[in-house]
Amino acid sequence: MARYLGKETTRVDGIAKVTGKAKYAAEFQIPHLTYGFIVLSTIAKGRIIQIDTSAAEASAGVIKVFTHLNAGKLGKPSAADASPTWAWPLQSDQVFFNGQPIALVVAETYEQARHAARLVQVSYQAQPHETNVAAVLGRAKPAPQEAPPRGNPQAAMQAASVKVQSEYRIPIEHHNPMEPHAAIAFWEGDQLTIFDKTQNVYGVQQHLSQGLGVPTGNIRVVSPFVGGAFGASLKPNYYPSLTAMAARELKRPVKVVFTRAQMFTGHGYRPETIQKVALGAAPDGKLQAIIHEAFHNTSSFESFSDNTTGFLKQVYACPNLHAPLKIAATDLATPTWMRAPGAVSGMFALESAMDELAYALKIDPLELRLINYAEVDPESGKPFSSKALRECYRLGAEKFGWSKRNPEPRSMRDGNLLVGWGMASSVWGAMQMPASARVTYRADGTASVASATSDIGPGTYTVMTMIAAEFLGLPLEKVTFELGDTDQPRAPAQGGSWTTSSVGSAVRGAALTITEKLLGLANQDAGSPLRGTSIDEVEMFENRLRLKNDAARSVDIAAIMQRAGTQELTEVYDSKPSPEREKYTSLAHGAQFVEVKVDPELGTVRVSRVIEITACGKILNPLASHSQEIGGVVWGIGMALEEATEIDHRYGRIMNASLQHYHVPVNADIHAIETIFVEEDDTIVNPLGVKGMGELGMVGIPAAIANAVYHATGKRIRDLPITPDKLV
Ligand code: MOS
Repeated sequence: MARYLGKETTRVDGIAKVTGKAKYAAEFQIPHLTYGFIVLSTIAKGRIIQIDTSAAEASAGVIKVFTHLNAGKLGKPSAADASPTWAWPLQSDQVFFNGQPIALVVAETYEQARHAARLVQVSYQAQPHETNVAAVLGRAKPAPQEAPPRGNPQAAMQAASVKVQSEYRIPIEHHNPMEPHAAIAFWEGDQLTIFDKTQNVYGVQQHLSQGLGVPTGNIRVVSPFVGGAFGASLKPNYYPSLTAMAARELKRPVKVVFTRAQMFTGHGYRPETIQKVALGAAPDGKLQAIIHEAFHNTSSFESFSDNTTGFLKQVYACPNLHAPLKIAATDLATPTWMRAPGAVSGMFALESAMDELAYALKIDPLELRLINYAEVDPESGKPFSSKALRECYRLGAEKFGWSKRNPEPRSMRDGNLLVGWGMASSVWGAMQMPASARVTYRADGTASVASATSDIGPGTYTVMTMIAAEFLGLPLEKVTFELGDTDQPRAPAQGGSWTTSSVGSAVRGAALTITEKLLGLANQDAGSPLRGTSIDEVEMFENRLRLKNDAARSVDIAAIMQRAGTQELTEVYDSKPSPEREKYTSLAHGAQFVEVKVDPELGTVRVSRVIEITACGKILNPLASHSQEIGGVVWGIGMALEEATEIDHRYGRIMNASLQHYHVPVNADIHAIETIFVEEDDTIVNPLGVKGMGELGMVGIPAAIANAVYHATGKRIRDLPITPDKLV
């Protein structure tokens, strides 16, 4: 019987967070600290002709102004590589995007550095640039993971009796976490320590090793708390290497913190995406062909792919499908993953198109999904390790009252408001990555657990503590879990919603190895009541090792350890996905039902009610998990109705690089949201039976809202966000 797993548990780091004891990257107190402020380019493409730093250098408190003329070397530019690259800051006079770092002013105080940064005078030789993805579609290249088509989509599309075809657009969006990106770097001889906001301490270590030409063993990356990241700290951004370089040159600690505006070109963004979707069906609703072409932008110096069409291929049973992704270079910073990357963009288009098809067929949108339900993975033909999507549809429809929906657009009203009901499906992965964890169990009944993962907000500290406490048989408060330090065992980036499956499996593995060691020690005692039992039959519980089905047969763990002459046992466990997984497809799914109320005169949309049902394996901490899904719904509302990064293409410059002008939902935008889990008993996916769920929660929401807006107004909005101007 589980003591902790599956039970609502408040955050073990909650008090530290609300009292300010939890330290974020910029908050570490380091003596003799200096402050860096970044100067950004004001053209989108070209060369720096002259950069005059004399006034800045003469300004009070300024220690040094780094530019491409005097910065320490970063990276290993190879002579053979003549193509333009911008992997490392301040390494050449070339400008690849508006908002690229071109100088770093370091001063005794932040204010002095920030003031002096304004005194740096730059003249450029500008070159023509292009920042509008629609203008460069002709130059788009296939994404690297491009898969061949399934069946014969062109012929099947021609033969299909009912067809819909449309184009869907999603603008650039930015993560906008609360905590600005920041690093503090200091050197002790050839040893670098860096406090960095990151989802991947080992990734930053590797990156800095390459950039600085220092062995990884000489670099310690520390990141115990992250105030939101959502993908913006998956890849090492340019500022850690810049900070470490400056600290090395100055032989003093340096701190660099992004301003909100600098974040808009400093950590990537969700790419601008254009999707052309054609669906062909038989009159009974059976899909005959899906042709789903996606394009998105990348930068001129890096090829980023968002996997826009990856997951959507596995949602419906359709024998003929072609879903190519093409990426086109623009003179912007490189995009990156942003919550539910690719999936939320691809499913906005596919699930909008499915709604259009439902109307063309005069079949209920939910019924259309059920007609095309994928019983096996349509892409590989493999069975699903578990899939409770059908139950999600059923339960969601029942809770929402879907059967009472009049399909006619503009048929439902609340006073003068138009009421719309829309639904959509969602999909995300159930990935597991290699991960390691260390558990130390002490004879006094306490344990320390560590793994170099991150907790960007989902509750990783809490769930790892729960898993360790469960398998070590200890009260929660006797277990401490630490993360975010390259001195700890290796963990993957916290991304892809794979942390609990990956790191959790390692923590469980380490705890079970300790159990096994204790059983071995116990059985050295001829009189042990556990003699002859196997590891599967015993468990640790309240400082005793006992038989699972006969708790009376037990031994005192402290006594076992004392006999062995030890006070503590430490195990490092490396977990990886099981080979059994390869025989199956493992995905997480969901169904979302949305009600909107639209003011016909003002064009304003209120999302008055959301029911989201998700099936993502076992739920270990329902409290944190519901928060994840509610947060996903809120973000989906933002994506559907508010979020867009606006670029003035004349200058290739972002116009709304602030939280004032980049709109995200506020409390007044959020109404009734109910999230429900249909738990799955999946013994294949990983030992804990958990699937990805942090990103899943937002995947179907933008489409469900767009579909509800169509139902309310009769207007099909295919370019996000659905702002009032598009509805009046
Ligand atoms: Mo998530 S975009 O994998 O941090």
